[in-house]
Amino acid sequence: MKDKLVRFGVSLEGELSRRFDAFIKAGGYDSRSKAIADLIRKEFVTDLFDRGGVVAGAVTIVYDHHRREVVNKLLDIQHDHGGIIISAQHVHLDHDNCLEIIAVKGAGAKVKELADSLKAVKGVKHSTLSVTSAGK
Ligand code: NI
Repeated sequence: MKDKLVRFGVSLEGELSRRFDAFIKAGGYDSRSKAIADLIRKEFVTDLFDRGGVVAGAVTIVYDHHRREVVNKLLDIQHDHGGIIISAQHVHLDHDNCLEIIAVKGAGAKVKELADSLKAVKGVKHSTLSVTSAGK
């Protein structure tokens, strides 16, 4: 069943309103409503993450696989966080570099702890954590 839409008026200062319209245009939005809804959801995800609620996301890391101890350390860390790792995809980027995309779902603090542990491994060249709603 589709939830009923609720309409409400929003008052903004002229400057903020103009900046918001420019933001909407740059973002390719059709309407202010969709843009506002996205901003609210984004803030909810941030809030959920901060409060340790369940989030979904992806940890992306790039490393040089020639450093064998790096591979072992990364595997150890992932095995220790099996409860929040849904899947991991390994891509051989080039002769030296590997890309790993680790899909996660779990409490914000646990997800952050995993991402921080992977990032801290010597030999990891780049790492990002992207967090989104688990859908609830
Ligand atoms: Ni590889």
